Amino acid sequence: MQILGAGGVAAVALVGLASHAVMVSTAPAGSEQQSRPPYIVNKHRARAVQDAFRVSWDGYYQYAFPHDSLKPIAKSWEDDRYVFCLLFLFRNGWGASAVDAFSTALIMGNWEAVDQLLNYIPTIDFSKTNTEVSLFETTIRYLGGLLSAYDLITGPLSGYIPRNRTTQVYYILVQAKFLADNLKVAFDTPSGIPDNNLYFNPPRRAGSRTNGIATIGTLVLEWTRLSDLTGDQQYARLAQRAEEYLLHPRPALGEPFPGLLGANVDLGTGLFVDGAGGWGGGTDSFYEYLIKMYLYDPYRFSEYRDRWVLAADSSMKYLISHPTSRPDLTFLAMWRNRTLEFYSEHLACFSGGNFILGGLTLSDPSYVKFGLELVNGCRATYKNTETGIGPEIFRWQDGRTPLNSSNNPGPPVNESGFYEKSGFWVANGGYVLRPEVIESYYYAYRATGDKKYQEWAWEAFKAINESCRVGVGYSGILDVNRERGGGYRDFQESFWFAEVLKYSFLIFAEDDAPWQVRADGKNEFVFNTEAHPIRVAKGGRRPYSGKWK
Ligand SMILES: *[C@@H]1O[C@H](CO)[C@@H](O)[C@H](O)[C@H]1NC(C)=O
Ligand SMILES: *[C@@H]1O[C@H](CO)[C@@H](O)[C@H](O)[C@H]1NC(C)=O
Ligand SMILES: *[C@@H]1O[C@H](CO)[C@@H](O)[C@H](O)[C@H]1NC(C)=O
Ligand SMILES: *[C@@H]1O[C@H](CO)[C@@H](O)[C@H](O)[C@H]1NC(C)=O
Ligand SMILES: *[C@@H]1O[C@H](CO)[C@@H](O)[C@H](O)[C@H]1NC(C)=O
Repeated sequence: MQILGAGGVAAVALVGLASHAVMVSTAPAGSEQQSRPPYIVNKHRARAVQDAFRVSWDGYYQYAFPHDSLKPIAKSWEDDRYVFCLLFLFRNGWGASAVDAFSTALIMGNWEAVDQLLNYIPTIDFSKTNTEVSLFETTIRYLGGLLSAYDLITGPLSGYIPRNRTTQVYYILVQAKFLADNLKVAFDTPSGIPDNNLYFNPPRRAGSRTNGIATIGTLVLEWTRLSDLTGDQQYARLAQRAEEYLLHPRPALGEPFPGLLGANVDLGTGLFVDGAGGWGGGTDSFYEYLIKMYLYDPYRFSEYRDRWVLAADSSMKYLISHPTSRPDLTFLAMWRNRTLEFYSEHLACFSGGNFILGGLTLSDPSYVKFGLELVNGCRATYKNTETGIGPEIFRWQDGRTPLNSSNNPGPPVNESGFYEKSGFWVANGGYVLRPEVIESYYYAYRATGDKKYQEWAWEAFKAINESCRVGVGYSGILDVNRERGGGYRDFQESFWFAEVLKYSFLIFAEDDAPWQVRADGKNEFVFNTEAHPIRVAKGGRRPYSGKWK
């Protein structure tokens, strides 16, 4: 196969590097002593999540592998897929669920799935696909999944992989590099800001005029890591050059509040074309990665930290909003220039976790405190619905803005009773196995050790298990406010494996595993936006003890 030929050359170059990576150095003793939150391992619940992974994986492996995703009711598969994400078209057929499940299988110690994946990865042909390729989706799922698996296997889990698998382990990195080599044509624009849409055979860009700040600004962790692992700086340079336009936004229209940006940038000029944004889909993970890059390497990415601080401070000052019916809840508004709009999304509920991570990383409790308030707001969107799961989009009426003004309408008549008790009403009731609320519970728990967050995560996991488990796996549902979710989408998203199951597991699992987020900010791993843990640049290689299993 073509890929094996191309990979063989790179494998030779990588041997020295990989054998180096197997050397293990333990973290300094006593580094965890200062005020560790009182974590409680709950093996029973962790095992229930592992069981859910096994069911989902077995269904996928039997009926869909090596296609992208399982249709659990039809017992079939889908490659051509529209991700219910408002903006992104994501297609390819390289086994999205398989690669997305890899780091979760490793962390859960599902060695059977790991074995299947080690066999599979070298066989993917990343030079061929019949459909359009999304640079962003391919980076966060495939590149992130591969780099994470490589970091875990050559780091803390090196003792868990048989020595006769060394070749397959090299191929994880070989394939990551080969994929990036096919994707890098995306950056071939006048400004150096990538076109998000590509075609392969041969690799070429689709010719978009603009790109969004999430799809531009959520590449830099994966592409920098690839350079750091291979020693080839071209990948880091491409992603960081594109990011420059977001760190120094022009013109003023593109930055309506300090650090808070518009949504789209012109690929020719690098200028912002609008001033509308938020912490939701299309812009969200640009902000997320600013602080994660600083966590990845505080020496190289202090400017990213400064921009995160600016964005976080502006959000606390300008975007904070309390619903008229539930002033105890805190949400973040969206903006259109400097006009606020009072709606939010399931996707935006990662923001609580991101504020908490920022607070821990910068040792600033005010960000943690604000993050916990946001977590509490998102929890309300779960607690009050029929299924116990939060909706895709919700709205509220803001207490500080003139009531009934054009940007601050009240609820529709038939929703006013629900709004009175819940503090929001549902604008889109779908649930597509998204992780963000449980993700933020995880950060809240790691910061505080407060058992309440484990209870909330368990409530959410049970509700999802109840409404979404169907056929040979799990499926998205149509309406969280109807009994039994109002029907199934018959689609098991790949991020169900990567994110929902991982965060649900980690909140109950062994608390001092090397990939766990630490309350003292001294993390050895940073989770990419798809929840793939990437080893930080100066990360220790503390071996995993696996003692709780
Ligand atoms: C690799 O080693 C394991 C034992 O560690 C053994 O069970 C397995 O059969 C070996 N596989 C191959 C392909 O040699
Ligand atoms: C935002 O501001 C720009 C110029 O400052 C203006 O052209 C545009 O119409 C405004 N957009 C909205 C939605 O108000
Ligand atoms: C806003 O509109 C609602 C219903 O349309 C009405 O009951 C309420 O009195 C209005 N409030 C204000 C302050 O105008
Ligand atoms: C309220 O009415 C809208 C529009 O007809 C409908 O989509 C929504 O489901 C209704 N809400 C409830 C709680 O019945
Ligand atoms: C999940 O659902 C399955 C099937 O209904 C059930 O057997 C299992 O106990 C549930 N798990 C939890 C944690 O509720």
